[in-house]
Amino acid sequence: MINKELVDSWNLELNNSSPAAVIAFFLKQFPDKVAVSTSLGLEDQVITAITASIDKKVGIFTLDTGRLFPETYDLLDRTFKKYNINIKVYFPNTAEVEKMVNEKGINLFYDSIENRKLCCNLRKIVPLSRAMKGLDAWITGLRKDQSITRTDMQLVEWDENNKMLKINPLINWTEQDVWDYIEAYNVPYNTLHKKGVASIGCQPCTRAIENGENIRAGRWWWESPDTKECGLHEK
Ligand code: ADX
Ligand code: SF4
Repeated sequence: MINKELVDSWNLELNNSSPAAVIAFFLKQFPDKVAVSTSLGLEDQVITAITASIDKKVGIFTLDTGRLFPETYDLLDRTFKKYNINIKVYFPNTAEVEKMVNEKGINLFYDSIENRKLCCNLRKIVPLSRAMKGLDAWITGLRKDQSITRTDMQLVEWDENNKMLKINPLINWTEQDVWDYIEAYNVPYNTLHKKGVASIGCQPCTRAIENGENIRAGRWWWESPDTKECGLHEK
């Protein structure tokens, strides 16, 4: 059984291990019960590249909210082809999204935080719980220095919302570490990064950032920094 002591001991044991060693450790610990969750962001592309180099059959999934950038779909296709892996795509429930949009408008998220969270919930959180069925652990590309909401995150965490282990192999990496890996291993990435978009989510909720702005400043830019989580990583 996974308890706090076990999670603490994994954090101690693996704290100085490479992301590849961390991923390999948990793939062995929970065979066929670990999946990578990718938004096709820079960090996720690193995780996908590492995972594919260990085992191409590991489950990798992405949540297609229906509001992604065309550049993100293009990257999904390029990633499939480059690594010859199967990234499973999950969609939101049609009836729920239709009801939301017809009652509250197609761009409801600009009107209130409540509306924004409703949209994130239907388009991401509900499909995420389907993607998680039967798993013991999920792997993400979270990093501590992405945001003030992420500084307390650990390499290995108990995810109470999903009642499973959450593994964040890049948790202590800097943005430069991520770019260095992408360049060294020729990992495909979203062309929007070269147009000033640092963190990429849904098209209507993402903008490019200015020099000196935090890398997540362009996500839900009309909200204050402490509300900027969509629920995937809220405790
Ligand atoms: S978000 O919560 O603000 O959207 P962010 O874009 O920083 O999150 O991504 C953090 C991690 O959440 C990613 O590394 C990935 O593991 C997971 N994630 C975010 N969006 C998606 C998505 N659309 N599909 C699958 N995983 C996602
Ligand atoms: Fe909806 Fe924006 Fe959340 Fe995407 S990021 S699910 S469009 S509120």
